Amino acid sequence: MILIDDLLENNKRWAEEMHEKDPSFFLRLTNQEAVKYLWIGCSDSRVPANELLGLLPGSVFVHRNIANLVIHTDLNCMSVIEYAVKILKVEHIILTGHYDCGGIKAAIETQSFGLIDGWLRTIKDLYIQHIDKFPCGMTKKQRLDKLTELNVIEQTKNICHATCVQEAWKNGQALTVNSLIYSVENGQLKQLTTDFNNSDSVNDLYHIT
Ligand code: CO
Repeated sequence: MILIDDLLENNKRWAEEMHEKDPSFFLRLTNQEAVKYLWIGCSDSRVPANELLGLLPGSVFVHRNIANLVIHTDLNCMSVIEYAVKILKVEHIILTGHYDCGGIKAAIETQSFGLIDGWLRTIKDLYIQHIDKFPCGMTKKQRLDKLTELNVIEQTKNICHATCVQEAWKNGQALTVNSLIYSVENGQLKQLTTDFNNSDSVNDLYHIT
């Protein structure tokens, strides 16, 4: 049985090691949060932002939820994006999906998983919307991988549609919205598209005048 004491002991050791390597590390962090990146990813324990990017605490602002969704009525996610863009002035928002995502798997099944059904329905909607991209001959894995990628692009667009992002671009603020996907099999990230770095990235209807 894992005890919380073990975790506290781990933490103590980690803090001491960090201090030994760089005695002013924690002191610097108490004075400022100067981050350049906002990471929006899945809650999956195999996809931790800092570790994958090789970044230390203080480098990346993070929001995670199941299946890395950006939904405009989700005050939590939208508040994180607005704070990151307006106050922290991050230069990159990194939307990261991952293969073998339980949320994606659940979305193409008819089994009920309770409260989360409503959260994942947006992926089911996306699947139905793009059903022509899923020919009958596809394996289940190919189907899931394709839907995972489509979901990353869709959520990236949702970030671009947000008022604060449109305002930032209108005001000439340097901000790129990135679409990445992570493989839990080999630990590697890859970029899906580089299309989203100004207002023209999305339909005119989302622009702010
Ligand atoms: Co996931």
